[in-house]
Amino acid sequence: MAIATPARCVTDPWKSFPARIARIRPEVPGVATFELVFEDAAVQRDFVFLPGQFNMLYVPGVGESAISISGDPVDRSCVPHTVREAGNVTHALSRLRPGATIGVRGPFGSSWPLEECRGCDVVVVAGGIGLAPLRPAVHELLRREGDGTLTLLYGARVPSGLLYRDQFDQWRAQGCDVRLTVDRAEPGWSGEVGVVTLLLDRLPIPRPERTVLLTCGPEVMMWYTVQSALRRGIAVERIYVSLERNMNCAVGLCGHCQLGPEFICKDGPVLRFDRVSPFLKVHDL
Ligand SMILES: Cc1cc2nc3c(=O)[nH]c(=O)nc-3n(C[C@H](O)[C@H](O)[C@H](O)COP(=O)(O)OP(=O)(O)OC[C@H]3O[C@@H](n4cnc5c(N)ncnc54)[C@H](O)[C@@H]3O)c2cc1C
Ligand code: FES
Repeated sequence: MAIATPARCVTDPWKSFPARIARIRPEVPGVATFELVFEDAAVQRDFVFLPGQFNMLYVPGVGESAISISGDPVDRSCVPHTVREAGNVTHALSRLRPGATIGVRGPFGSSWPLEECRGCDVVVVAGGIGLAPLRPAVHELLRREGDGTLTLLYGARVPSGLLYRDQFDQWRAQGCDVRLTVDRAEPGWSGEVGVVTLLLDRLPIPRPERTVLLTCGPEVMMWYTVQSALRRGIAVERIYVSLERNMNCAVGLCGHCQLGPEFICKDGPVLRFDRVSPFLKVHDL
């Protein structure tokens, strides 16, 4: 299996490198992918990341936000980030146009356990914008040869909220079993209606002892996904989640992102489920 080059060692984690917005791809309402190119050609050439890692994007005069890198790790032409307008920084970003310059610190954080996926069937379960940090892993897993199956179960509230729809046919052609669902149908939708965990409940899992599950989405979705996976016999040691917490320093110093003993910025965002399950908010439901 091809594995992305190890991530660049962040020699100065405080340094924000100027990057130009080369292209903006509208994805779904309120979400767009910003393709960034570092202004320094050497930085662009040397920038590598692992699937699941994130950058801190700085909009001058506004602030920084943690945003996952959503592109193919082997495509070095640009560094894509898929951004949902949520608050100050992401709104400011959405007002910028191609040609504008922002700052990029990173890459930071842990990555999806692609080595552990070797020889295993992999089930990727994503909800909404949770597909963004998983897309680099899908790209990597599609490059495996005769090394287990790959299934993507992806759900959104409505069909018009499904990200990257233009890629699904290509992923299917490359051997990925892509199954989609929405909470609420819209005119023209003839696919599944229901939460994404129902897709997992129904998915044949012929060798649960050799299956790895990767999931990202709303915490409650991940929680029920994991419960379903456990019922299907997937071992908790093979279940990974990607978590979001408020970020500030991104290097484990400020404590903003602490969850139990873990700092989501440096121990996460990708963590084995059993390391974080006691601390998830979903326990309060
Ligand atoms: C590791 C990691 C990876 C991430 N990857 C991505 C990604 O790929 N794409 C992405 O879009 N996001 C991602 N996020 C989430 C993103 O970092 C947060 O949404 C971030 O807070 C956005 O910054 P902001 O300044 O735009 O929003 P903030 O101002 O921080 O607002 C965040 C939240 O507060 C609410 N809020 C803000 N202002 C107000 C207000 N005045 N009144 C009421 N509510 C308000 C917003 O609705 C929003 O829910 C990631 C987070 C982490 C930790
Ligand atoms: S963001 Fe500062 S410790 Fe994680």
